[in-house]
Amino acid sequence: MYLFHGKSKMIEEVTTTMERLQKVIAHAGIASRRKAEELILQGKVKVNGQVVTELGVKVGPQDKIEVDGIPVEREEPVYYLLYKPRGVISSVKDEKGRKVVTDFFEGLDKRIYPIGRLDYDTSGLLLLTNDGDFANLLMHPRYEIEKVYIAKVRGIPTREQLKQLEKGIMLEDGMTAPAKVKMLSLDKRKQTAIIEIRIHEGRNRQVRRMFEAIGCRVMKLKRERYAFLDLKGLNPGDYRELSPHEVKQLRALALSGGRR
Ligand code: URA
Repeated sequence: MYLFHGKSKMIEEVTTTMERLQKVIAHAGIASRRKAEELILQGKVKVNGQVVTELGVKVGPQDKIEVDGIPVEREEPVYYLLYKPRGVISSVKDEKGRKVVTDFFEGLDKRIYPIGRLDYDTSGLLLLTNDGDFANLLMHPRYEIEKVYIAKVRGIPTREQLKQLEKGIMLEDGMTAPAKVKMLSLDKRKQTAIIEIRIHEGRNRQVRRMFEAIGCRVMKLKRERYAFLDLKGLNPGDYRELSPHEVKQLRALALSGGRR
């Protein structure tokens, strides 16, 4: 355990393998970082048997942490990109016994969970991690990570309607933020269209509701990109680990407002 007082270079070097106590608690999935800070201030956290009530404490891999008397299991943070197939729940368990996204990671000894969600019937790119801070950072609406969806819709939207989607459209939970919309193809005979839509928000069923608002039902939906990440080389159900560089880039992107 180490009490971090200033930003001297030596201290930074000494503490490179040390992490802030609240971060370790958040990584373990016990609480958000802010909640972890509250737990510390409330005297509910012990390090090596000693109650810690200061927020500057850093801990290393050997330190034993307890929250409310329960030992915190430390896990190496891991980051995955999954090509979620349709017909899978974006959760770690389902009361109805349906397939969930973590079923694809059988044998993994880490408690990962999805960062945000895709609908049961939506396929595409989904990130999973056991790093609570990272998940919170990417999901925070303020950081506006861009997501690109391909939607097949019933009906052919007019240019005006597509403009409306771009400018923002009123949904029951408020106006949507500006989006970018591109018609990729249309089938006049079948009265269907394939449209690319780029949004920065992540409201529940947002893309489906946006198209419903202009009178077009989404028949199929796929998330093709998340920031600079895509699904290249993956089939539905496949996953890969993110490289440390990709994780760093995502963090930097979120902190810079998601628009680099
Ligand atoms: N928008 C939706 O409507 N559904 C998704 O799964 C993702 C975005």
